[in-house]
Amino acid sequence: MRTDSPPVIRLEDYRPTDYLIDTVDLDFNLDPNVTKVTALLSLRPNPLGRPNAPLVLDGDELLLNDLRLDGTPLDANAYTASPQGLTLHAPPQRPFELRIETSVNPTANTKLMGLFRSNGIYCTQCEAEGFRRITYFLDRPDVLSVYTTRIEAAVEEAPLLLGNGNRADAGLMPGTGRHFVVWHDPHPKPAYLFAIVGGRLDTVSEVYTTQSGRRVDIAIHVEQGKRERATYALDALARSMRWDERVFGREYDLDVFNVVAVSDFNMGAMENKGLNIFNDKYVLASQDTATDSDYANIEAVIAHEYFHNWTGNRITCRDWFQLCLKEGLTVFRDHEFSADERSRPVKRIADVRTLRAAQFVEDAGPLAHPVRPNRYREINNFYTATVYEKGAEVVRMLKTMLGDDVFRKGMDLYFERFDGTAATIEDFLSCFAEASGRSLDHFSEWYAQAGTPILTASGFYDEVSRTYRLDLRQSTPPTPGQPEKKPLVMPIAMGLVGEGGRDLPLVTDNDVALHDGVLIFDEAATSVTFHNVTEKPVPSLLRGFSAPVRYDIDLSDDELLVLFSADSDPFNQWQAVQTVLIRQLIKGTEAVKTGRSLPPSDRLVRALAEFTAATAEQDAAFAAQVLTLPTESDIAREIGRDVDPDAILSARRAMKRQLSEALLPTLERLHIKLASSDAFSPDASSAGRRALRNAGLDLIAAADPERGEQLAAERYAAADNMTDRMAALATLALIPGAGREDALADFAARFAHDPLIMDKWLALQAMIPEPQTLDRVKGLMQHPIFTLTNPNRARALIGSFAMGNPTQFNRIDGAGFDLLADVVLKLDPLNPQVAARLLTAFRTWRMLEPGRRLKAEAALKRVAAAGNLSPDVTDIAARSLG
Ligand code: ARG
Ligand code: ZN
Repeated sequence: MRTDSPPVIRLEDYRPTDYLIDTVDLDFNLDPNVTKVTALLSLRPNPLGRPNAPLVLDGDELLLNDLRLDGTPLDANAYTASPQGLTLHAPPQRPFELRIETSVNPTANTKLMGLFRSNGIYCTQCEAEGFRRITYFLDRPDVLSVYTTRIEAAVEEAPLLLGNGNRADAGLMPGTGRHFVVWHDPHPKPAYLFAIVGGRLDTVSEVYTTQSGRRVDIAIHVEQGKRERATYALDALARSMRWDERVFGREYDLDVFNVVAVSDFNMGAMENKGLNIFNDKYVLASQDTATDSDYANIEAVIAHEYFHNWTGNRITCRDWFQLCLKEGLTVFRDHEFSADERSRPVKRIADVRTLRAAQFVEDAGPLAHPVRPNRYREINNFYTATVYEKGAEVVRMLKTMLGDDVFRKGMDLYFERFDGTAATIEDFLSCFAEASGRSLDHFSEWYAQAGTPILTASGFYDEVSRTYRLDLRQSTPPTPGQPEKKPLVMPIAMGLVGEGGRDLPLVTDNDVALHDGVLIFDEAATSVTFHNVTEKPVPSLLRGFSAPVRYDIDLSDDELLVLFSADSDPFNQWQAVQTVLIRQLIKGTEAVKTGRSLPPSDRLVRALAEFTAATAEQDAAFAAQVLTLPTESDIAREIGRDVDPDAILSARRAMKRQLSEALLPTLERLHIKLASSDAFSPDASSAGRRALRNAGLDLIAAADPERGEQLAAERYAAADNMTDRMAALATLALIPGAGREDALADFAARFAHDPLIMDKWLALQAMIPEPQTLDRVKGLMQHPIFTLTNPNRARALIGSFAMGNPTQFNRIDGAGFDLLADVVLKLDPLNPQVAARLLTAFRTWRMLEPGRRLKAEAALKRVAAAGNLSPDVTDIAARSLG
């Protein structure tokens, strides 16, 4: 293993900087290979810092051309410069000006951090620590400065030049073929929110009038020729702006808001002040190119980045440990937005599926960490499901506990008090403590303690005294560095369900913390007695998934099916039937290991048949969720140890076939009823009908592959939108033979020119659960469309194989692990962030049965032992093995 692993940064070591930077004047002379950057920084000693301290500026792969202090070149012994930093040994103890000239090579920048070129477009990514790849700086979020940026470029190459803030000046530079634009951002901001863009782009724009009547030019800029595919994103942006005014009272604060979509981008998108830069996957959409889930993701990411303007930009983070302060809160806000724009229960189900698939898995493995970590080696490795998704759940719990009005009061206070500052989680929580008059000290453990708590419940009905006693217990399994766990504060939204789905009144003793059906459970164990319970109820706990916990209740399948058909909470209806399915799938997996197969219970089949016949059509999107079986990974996670992915796949296949056979007549009827001749619309209810029809197709194919193949081939050929085309192709992909290969070839021929669409084709093939897939993936790595250096391509092919194909990534011969290890080692020198992200596919290795576990460990060790690894990959490899 490499010895020079990056140093540990600790939360408790935080101290303010010794110097502040009030203003930054930047000048970019854009050139593909040698871009000159001149930075004029006005500095002064920080009253909160140490006097006479050296000034230590961060740098990363920089070339220093010139350095002046108050206009005078600095003496060589007054400073030390390297590509990785610049230190002034004895800076003035008064305000002073530093002029730094550096050069960078945007074309050679394959890390996609700092200034780089994507398809010829100049763009930047500075979060978390990319600004130091542009100029030497105090590159940390608690240094807030006012930026003025002049960008100069060849008109031919970059007719459009964008920066943060408002446009202040522009002009041609006669005789040079060059021009310039000056941008000024009046809002002080940390360097990670800095951005520029230069290139030839197509634009869609409109004027948005804020609630107070200010006019804002909002625009989406995309690669040439893709203008029509940007209109949905523009509409989503305007809706996001309106929603934030209505729901949080937050108005936009500049004259322009620009969104730029580029094709090479490490993450989803970035909230740079007034100039969001996006992975084009989260902007471009049209009927023929985007699926309904693409549309939903675009809406969510556009909203997310826009909402950061207040939660992230106006109020930023004091240090990177506070990342969840902006990310968890902003994810919560975008979830709420989508819930309001679409169906709230369906959105909740989708979000909980994601939480479990990504965050619960992370929390149960070697990469587990608290929502607010307290140490890191490489901050880029902490843009995780825990910080984002669990961070959002913690905010949601606050709202559930305090109620809508107090929550809004707390948010208002937060905006008012911390606007213009770099804040902490303590600052955030203090607003809700003040608004509610309640202590949140115990609640704040959610930020500090890693691991998914397990909530266990059992209930006892006493007919004679008409009481119902609920016994609750909680525990959290140990996680790396946290062997002992404390009980947490869990808001449990609940009901006692009586005959016909009626919610019985909840009458408890006075000392029980129960308000509006939300029980606050904050001890290791408790008992709550409900009085005047006139019939034996079925408890419905964690309605709307009111706390991010694993939940184990001693209800029979029959009782769960009562909740499925009758609970007033749609989330728990869905949850109940999923729980029954998971239970039966786990038993089925055990049976497969002894060569048997367990059919789904008659009662489950009957409940699903009744549901499908009676209610499916009324809420198609919800029904599609119900009819989508738990995934192989869902089952593996519930089994938790000695996992045999092949046994899970067989059990799931068998169960799906038997269920579908039993439901076949109902499915066929539904199929006909849902056939739509309406013109395409991406709205949620049309999308819901497509989702249900396609879920039905998937089940029909499981029951009767021949019929399924025929229906899917028809749908593929006749599809007038990408959702139906992809769903049909996915159904075909599971049926080996010429039909599938023909369809795949047809798709490739149709969309060969469009890498973003070909990603779907790559991903689908990478996820085929067959032994031949390994060779297929290796073959696709040689396909002309594939390149390891584009993050979307790498994630579509390699990421989908490693994270979305449990049987083939976890092949018993270890060849899946080896493929991933090889790719990570090859990609690391080019793009460490994406390499490290792909490597996290090993996070479940300890849950595997011993044979596979050994192979996985060997592959991980091979990565860890390689020379010259990036800090990113070093960190993930070390923690995964730790
Ligand atoms: N702040 C961005 C977001 O909206 C994520 C940027 C992360 N970038 C990175 N290189 N780690 O969530
Ligand atoms: Zn974010």
